Amino acid sequence: MSATVLLGGGRITGALVAGLRLAGYDKPIVVHDRHAGKLRQLKKRYAIGTEPDLHRAVAQANLLVVAVRPDSVRSLLRSMGPVDRPVTAVSLAAGVPLAKLRAETGSKVRWARAMPSPVCRSGLGLTAVTFERGLGPVARRTIKQFFGKVGAVVEIPESRFDAFTVTYSSSHGLHALAALAHASQKLGLDRKTAFAAAAHALADGIVAWREGNASLDHLLREAATPGGIAATVMSSMDAAGYGLAVHQALRAGMRRARKNAKP
Ligand SMILES: NC(=O)c1ccc[n+]([C@@H]2O[C@H](COP(=O)([O-])OP(=O)(O)OC[C@H]3O[C@@H](n4cnc5c(N)ncnc54)[C@H](OP(=O)(O)O)[C@@H]3O)[C@@H](O)[C@H]2O)c1
Repeated sequence: MSATVLLGGGRITGALVAGLRLAGYDKPIVVHDRHAGKLRQLKKRYAIGTEPDLHRAVAQANLLVVAVRPDSVRSLLRSMGPVDRPVTAVSLAAGVPLAKLRAETGSKVRWARAMPSPVCRSGLGLTAVTFERGLGPVARRTIKQFFGKVGAVVEIPESRFDAFTVTYSSSHGLHALAALAHASQKLGLDRKTAFAAAAHALADGIVAWREGNASLDHLLREAATPGGIAATVMSSMDAAGYGLAVHQALRAGMRRARKNAKP
């Protein structure tokens, strides 16, 4: 009963375990998944414990992390059956509300939700957390410290969790990188230079803004001389509906998250 147990050995579990190892996390980690091959891979790469039996996995948990896809959460929790000792559980499932998690487990399980991203692999990420009312201060601290090992942690109300989820995905930056580099290749830049230029263009200004004191407006004015090339490119993107496309995309993500919340 002293391990951190992750249920689901897929993408986010792999990234989280990699980040925890990088950070020197010293508590035992056990992963449960229905695919023996995934467990073997995780064990080989990160020297974690694996447990193919769900009940035996849960029995070892001091902290239980649910990392299956949203549409698998209910059946996983039902297979878990009643838990007869206090357990602190964290669900990573996008859009699945605390009330739904609570409804599937007995009163011994106290719930939190967390939204990390695969960037936690490198310790550079951000994780949002939210807690159900009955979760005590010690458990809250444990959860914040756990995700704090792999990046910054921000606590937000559950009512804002879907908005955070659709905003905070490393896919935004990677998607923009792909679009910018591919457009650049079409102009004749070779692939390597196009990706290097696009990665610096997207990442460097953002890091400078995040880590410095200058305002975004100031940095934008500095980077785009009125009437110059950068200003022309930006206004062309805006005229083509860049802001609207982002707005509509986030709303689509919110609708998808709400589907996960349905009973
Ligand atoms: N990936 C991300 O970037 C990210 C970021 C933040 C949060 N999340 C959340 O994290 C969760 C997992 O996402 P993921 O991308 O890691 O998914 P994934 O790669 O599909 O991994 C989930 C793993 O859990 C297994 N599984 C499902 N139900 C199971 C059960 N009843 N017993 C044992 N194993 C079971 C799956 O097997 P099958 O393939 O056979 O179903 C799969 O191997 C999702 O709810 C997602 O919303 C993901």
